[in-house]
Amino acid sequence: MDLKNKKVLITGGSAGIGKAILAELVRRGVQDVAVVGRRKEPLDALATEFPAVNFLLLPGDVGRAADLDRAVAAVTEAWGGLDILINNAGVVSAGLLTEQSDEDVVNQITINLTGLILLTKKCLPLLQQSPEGAIVNISSGYGYIAMPFYSVYAATKAAVGQFSDAMRRELHQYPLHVMTVYPSATDTDMMKTAVVHNMDSAEDVARAALEGLLIREINVILGGKDREEQIKTNFLEPKKIDAFAAANYEALRERTQTHRSM
Ligand SMILES: NC(=O)c1ccc[n+]([C@@H]2O[C@H](COP(=O)([O-])OP(=O)(O)OC[C@H]3O[C@@H](n4cnc5c(N)ncnc54)[C@H](OP(=O)(O)O)[C@@H]3O)[C@@H](O)[C@H]2O)c1
Repeated sequence: MDLKNKKVLITGGSAGIGKAILAELVRRGVQDVAVVGRRKEPLDALATEFPAVNFLLLPGDVGRAADLDRAVAAVTEAWGGLDILINNAGVVSAGLLTEQSDEDVVNQITINLTGLILLTKKCLPLLQQSPEGAIVNISSGYGYIAMPFYSVYAATKAAVGQFSDAMRRELHQYPLHVMTVYPSATDTDMMKTAVVHNMDSAEDVARAALEGLLIREINVILGGKDREEQIKTNFLEPKKIDAFAAANYEALRERTQTHRSM
């Protein structure tokens, strides 16, 4: 895939992994980028930080269908087309399921999953006209290997992977690639309230994602060979991962007690 002259819509491109992906896209020649995010200030700051980019800065919440309609209408009006959709915006609220507020349960699902599906649906008429397009969905390592205290988040991220696979197979007659990225713990605002060491940088994730996209990988999994082995173990011998989670239960609980970015 050639990224030059591609028109890209990215959610959550104003911070963290999304912003690093935006920077990597620009480095690789992309000039037209639409960015959706809730807060106006970090969105507006992008125009100063990336002066060469033709931005469509679209304040909105991916959890609200009306905001998605507005974003897609703005893209249609400005560009009349779209080549790459990057569904990156996401939130997390950790804790025992019994301790999570109903709002946090619903909002994690609405933002991480329903919003991602609806935006994809609304962008498809544009993407299906692209001579070389892509949908990139950002899942999480927890989308492959679920851990205690992340039941809702892990459920949304596993669903993102399944949605990607179904879409790629549903769209096989179009020149549209669908890829899922599974970051490990990454040093962004989302992780400020968790206690995790040795995180990847957002730039590491962005580089891996775009290198994967260029060679049309189906899954980009961060975390190296160890992670690949753990995924195999989780699939073939899930009781081994159960034992690991049980042995580390209290430590995990302590590290994740205040982890929330909503
Ligand atoms: N960091 C990690 O360790 C890690 C690991 C695995 C997967 N991931 C996934 O990677 C993606 C990016 O995470 P990150 O660490 O970069 O998070 P982050 O630093 O918290 O940044 C999130 C971005 O998404 C936007 N956003 C959040 N909720 C939104 C909503 N409802 N509507 C529109 N925009 C929204 C935020 O802007 P506003 O707040 O202004 O809306 C911000 O630009 C997420 O899907 C996350 O689940 C992260």
